[in-house]
Amino acid sequence: MPPLWATDKKILLGVSGGIAAYKTAELVRAWIKQGYQVETILTDAAARLVSPLTLSTLAKRRAWRDCDLLSDEHGWKIPHITLSEWADVLVVAPCTANALRAAAAGDSSTLLGATLLACKSPQLFFPAMNSNMWANPATKANARTLEERGHRVIDPDSGPLACGYEGAGRLPSTEAILDETWFSLCPIRDFAGKKVLVTAGPTHEYIDPVRFISNPSTGKMGYAIASEARYRGAEVVLVSGPAALRPPSGVRLVSVTSAEEMKEACLSESPGSDVIVMAAAVGDYRARARSVQKIKRAASRSLTLELEQNDDIARAIGERKAGGQILAGFAAETENIRENALRKLDAKNLDLVVANDVSGAETGFASDSNSVEIYLAPALGQPPKRISGDKWEVASGILDIISNVTE
Ligand code: CTP
Repeated sequence: MPPLWATDKKILLGVSGGIAAYKTAELVRAWIKQGYQVETILTDAAARLVSPLTLSTLAKRRAWRDCDLLSDEHGWKIPHITLSEWADVLVVAPCTANALRAAAAGDSSTLLGATLLACKSPQLFFPAMNSNMWANPATKANARTLEERGHRVIDPDSGPLACGYEGAGRLPSTEAILDETWFSLCPIRDFAGKKVLVTAGPTHEYIDPVRFISNPSTGKMGYAIASEARYRGAEVVLVSGPAALRPPSGVRLVSVTSAEEMKEACLSESPGSDVIVMAAAVGDYRARARSVQKIKRAASRSLTLELEQNDDIARAIGERKAGGQILAGFAAETENIRENALRKLDAKNLDLVVANDVSGAETGFASDSNSVEIYLAPALGQPPKRISGDKWEVASGILDIISNVTE
């Protein structure tokens, strides 16, 4: 589901004639599923690679073609003007070298080119082509020209290309295109110029090479906070334990396994951070002695593991907190939620604590919805706030509070 501010938007997708055009069917489907209105414009070359009927069926609207630029059929409703006024964002994917050239040159001889020229909404280009074509200074200069005009050109992914080459030139994944489109649509940039460090996910504390102690955290909450902070303009570092989630686009991911690794990464990233949100479910204990070999099932019917406590990362950061730095922690509780949360707020020198009742199926680990109570440090002089909703509502609510106290 999209972030709060990205619902009910109108997306205009321009498709140019690269082989990756076939992937736009999935992209249109994803947007429609998320409740967006989608219009598509295909260049003539694109229409040879993906059927306009496919896109129009998925978008539930006609697919516009170059021949619509000057067509009697639409009368006074000039398509490139009507479409350019309608769109909240214009996405060109895939964007061929030629489409990039045409956009940079202000070439209005196609419906897509004329619409790009007339459109005042954010424009987002996803170049996809042979790696030599992408590396060519002519292409790079066109990309730069568009960026200098305030548009965004997203670097292609690297990997095997349809032309047989290996290198940069692939169209990014559908998820990455959704993510970048949300970034363009985000109406607030209140975290611009700020570095935000977020921890997320569980940790794995290995007892032998094939077994570990962990918890059911999925990392969804921390990933949503990292994404939302990035949409709102922050430079984001996400220190994540093992999570089966796609790293958000535009966020620097530091992958760790154990609590000790997480601590090391956090202590190295925290000094330059303006905001630190500790959303990870850090394992409190690790095996005192990790077996080098797999522990064999012995004749004995019981096994005693000796555990030792991991360091408290939030507390370590709280002790080193610089003036002006905001430190937020979570308190995952099953009882005495308020008391326990306030105790953690104080003991870890947090500025705010997000108290999370993890006892119920609705709001516990791995759940998509959440209901949290946020307590602020007494020095900030603000009453607790309750936020209920999906991960985006909670993530943006937490960042709203942080944004308010840092103003
Ligand atoms: N935390 C941490 N390092 C740890 C344990 C917890 O940084 N070794 C952080 C969590 O990311 C969270 C906050 O501290 O932001 C509280 O975590 P929680 O698991 O609720 O509490 P604990 O401090 O582990 O205390 P307890 O297990 O007794 O509830």
